[in-house]
Amino acid sequence: MHQEATMNSLISLAGRPLFVDGQSRSAVLGEGKGWESLNQLDLTQIDPPIRKKIAEQWARDALFEHASVASFSRFSLHLMAVAAPPHLLDGSHRAALDEIRHAKICFALASAYAGEPLGPGPLPLEGDILGPLDLPTIAVATVREGCIGETIAALEADQAREVAQIVPAKEALSTIAEDESRHAELAWQFVRWAIDVGGKPVRDAVRQAFDEVLSRPAPPVSPADDGDDELERHGRLSDPSKRAVYVAGLNEVIRPAAEALLNA
Ligand SMILES: [Fe+2]
Ligand SMILES: [Fe+2]
Repeated sequence: MHQEATMNSLISLAGRPLFVDGQSRSAVLGEGKGWESLNQLDLTQIDPPIRKKIAEQWARDALFEHASVASFSRFSLHLMAVAAPPHLLDGSHRAALDEIRHAKICFALASAYAGEPLGPGPLPLEGDILGPLDLPTIAVATVREGCIGETIAALEADQAREVAQIVPAKEALSTIAEDESRHAELAWQFVRWAIDVGGKPVRDAVRQAFDEVLSRPAPPVSPADDGDDELERHGRLSDPSKRAVYVAGLNEVIRPAAEALLNA
């Protein structure tokens, strides 16, 4: 059994998702051997239910960060399948290493809040993981996972960093925001290259991929609950805050960047 989310719930994803057949794959939680090292935080002042909720949220992010490693491993293979230039291949491999660091940071925080070591179980990799290897399809996957997924992830992490008051969470989010922003840039660079070498079929497929997301209403959120302020202190954005970042990111960053890319 693994966590799944569809393209319609991008708002709930952290970082670059691993979509297989349109659904996001990640591992389930396992023992934290080697993933959870963090100096002990003094969390005794936090109400146990809040602490449990924060632990669950960091653990969920950790699993998505862990899945991002596989997403970049696949992206590296996709780049080779389409004879992409070496600077893109270099960027993809470096990004996979960043995602290992993000997963460790998030598992460390999750473990500290949970009071027990947490890490990933096996990542389910059955199915057609590589998918079609033509340039338009790979460019579309990069639009969804990188240009959109990682741009939103970078903005979310930056906003969470701004409101966080717990130092390890603030430091973690600062690292993640900076790296995700670079990963998003890598995705935009690849799509630019793909359009340049692939011409109209790639441009049309990319345009459609952006249109699908930009024309869709933002996902609804559950009403804010009483613990949201406390959670944000620990670097956990509330659903309404995430939604606001998502809407602003789509309209103020992704839409103009997509227009510039497609009209160049
Ligand atoms: Fe990440
Ligand atoms: Fe990333």
